[in-house]
Amino acid sequence: MSADPLAPGAAGNLSRLLEPLRLGGRTLRNRIIVTAHATYNIDAEHLPNEDDVAYFVERARGGAALVAMGTTAVHPSSPTPYGIYHNFDDRIVPRYEALSAAVHEHGGLIVPQLGHMGARTDGEAGPVWAPSQVSHHLWGSVPYAMSRADVRTVMEAYASAAKRAVRGGMDGVELSVGHGQMINLFLSPLTNQREDEYGGSDEARFRFCREVLEGVREAVGDALLLVRVNGSDEAPGSLDQDAWLDIDQRIAESGLVDAINVSANFYGSVIPTMAVARGCYLHYARAVKQRVDLPVGAVGRITDPTMAAQALEDGDADFVGMTRAHIADPHLVRKIAEGRTDEIRPCIGCIQMCQGELGRHRNVKCVYNAVTGRERFLREVETTPAAARRRVVVVGGGPAGLETARVSALRGHDVTLFDERAELGGVVRVAARTDGRDGLIDAVDWLGNEVRRLGVDVRLRRTAEAADVLALKPDVVVLATGASEALPLWAEREDRRLLGAADVVSGRPALSGTVAVVDETDRTSGMSAALAAAEQGCSVVLLTARPGPAELVEREVRDDFLQRLVAAGVEIRTSTQVRSWDRGAGVLHCGVGGLAALTYRDVDDHGHVLVRDVPDLAVAADFVVHTWTEPRAELFEDLPDSVDVRAVGDVLNPHRIEGAVHAAFELAASF
Ligand SMILES: Cc1cc2nc3c(=O)[nH]c(=O)nc-3n(C[C@H](O)[C@H](O)[C@H](O)COP(=O)(O)O)c2cc1C
Ligand code: SF4
Repeated sequence: MSADPLAPGAAGNLSRLLEPLRLGGRTLRNRIIVTAHATYNIDAEHLPNEDDVAYFVERARGGAALVAMGTTAVHPSSPTPYGIYHNFDDRIVPRYEALSAAVHEHGGLIVPQLGHMGARTDGEAGPVWAPSQVSHHLWGSVPYAMSRADVRTVMEAYASAAKRAVRGGMDGVELSVGHGQMINLFLSPLTNQREDEYGGSDEARFRFCREVLEGVREAVGDALLLVRVNGSDEAPGSLDQDAWLDIDQRIAESGLVDAINVSANFYGSVIPTMAVARGCYLHYARAVKQRVDLPVGAVGRITDPTMAAQALEDGDADFVGMTRAHIADPHLVRKIAEGRTDEIRPCIGCIQMCQGELGRHRNVKCVYNAVTGRERFLREVETTPAAARRRVVVVGGGPAGLETARVSALRGHDVTLFDERAELGGVVRVAARTDGRDGLIDAVDWLGNEVRRLGVDVRLRRTAEAADVLALKPDVVVLATGASEALPLWAEREDRRLLGAADVVSGRPALSGTVAVVDETDRTSGMSAALAAAEQGCSVVLLTARPGPAELVEREVRDDFLQRLVAAGVEIRTSTQVRSWDRGAGVLHCGVGGLAALTYRDVDDHGHVLVRDVPDLAVAADFVVHTWTEPRAELFEDLPDSVDVRAVGDVLNPHRIEGAVHAAFELAASF
């Protein structure tokens, strides 16, 4: 094992975070762990692959005391959404060996989480096992009630899975007791309506949990047995905080476990977005700590070290999970230890590329850390100097320009960045104006701070002309000039009553009367504009050609927007395709049926789409807001061919932040 560079006491007020903690037969080298999370780094057999090793090792190298692999399914009857590992397959043992050896090499501990996803499935893949035949509220699955033999089978499967983990050199296991998984289904009176010894009283509903714990403890011997509980199910009719505290007490009194890790949620997401308060589950951990005599871990939007240290100081927890904080910055602990907390890349809670990618059946990534999930290939890009130092001029200080400048500077280039605005951050600053989206600012603030720390010559309030750029004698010019509003195809010409979404979100100009927002991006800008118009007291209708608004946005973020839209009285019309705008009459003519309302066969000489005979839906509006943009590439035309000009970000194609940042990283790695 290599020497641990994380000496306690190195970080001033944060030093408490670096104190070791004894858990059962193991020692956490500090108080910061990475809680269980699925990575989708799997092969076709749902076994962890080499990318997974590189991924977890990077977090151990960065100083995390313990990393927990996401749910490993203990039995084939478990659904396996989000690329959950198959821990019922003996072939996982050598994969565990590779993971544990590599993590131990860097002084960390590693455990897999044992689980059975119960009814968390749409049921398409086969029969759904659960204690009782209670349909899952969110997923809609209708399970069949497990027989006693099934109950025994699954119970034994937990123990067998635990044995595989220990055989693979893992430091133990974490048992998922909450999160709506199988044990939670047995514990909850909502989903356990059994009449045998596993149902009925609180004690009887706890029986499955206790017997699983007994089997797993026997399987792991003196290795770690952690449990992950809910502070509350936060679901009507299910287990509330008091009920969970009783369960925690039973778990503690069993004497079988080494620590309790407190999360929350039964049906919904266990990953709070930026719209949720930081440290949202700390109060649950505090209550558990007051109730049981076991080390307690807290989790949930603990995004910065000061908050984490305060949680320890206040007695809320003995250790903290900073999970997405490590997805965003795997070297968080090392930076604390070295007094470089300003350099920590904060998780902004967007869930766009961690949970978001899992939902798209791709492996975990981070919206503004291009290396995450691709450590095997990219981890040395930032620390490897370029072959030759070059003079790089970046035009545009949005995410794409900032990331290009940052990575270029890290690689030793001499970088100048122009931005016409007074502040760095580009359109992200506009997007962050919407309630619940202000966390976006942290991403561009971090990029801006890093760019300055790395010595980039930042020139604000400067619209870079070709002469300005050429005066710097650049070897490479990177255009990250973004996009500007464009005239929608369905509007014949510009008009003061036709506005871009960004302008409306920025509060320019004042709106009144009826506003129709035509959302053709399926991202958040249309919803943000609708909210901004509603805030001005307008009567707002949001039109989208898709079956739902913002279909490309992660469910939790979309749900939050939808709740705000409904609360603001915004009318939402789905599957409604705008075909033309009658400016004089102030009416949008739409076809119901989404894209079916258009036919692309008939495009006239002006490029206007002609529509077939779909019944017209007229939407009257005093103002019309649109989401059309076009690249701002004028500078490209003005620079001579002799200059090496590259383009990145919205100037090429409007992206979300990750598209801009990841492309910028790859671009800056190429010269
Ligand atoms: C991509 C992703 C996958 C996750 N998978 C699991 C999982 O398999 N099991 C689990 O108990 N929690 C899972 N979680 C929840 C995390 O362990 C953690 O509780 C959550 O991210 C909140 O903590 P944070 O704000 O520090 O990220 C996952 C979280 C993320 C972001
Ligand atoms: S994608 Fe967003 S939520 Fe996920 S780790 Fe990165 S910053 Fe955090």
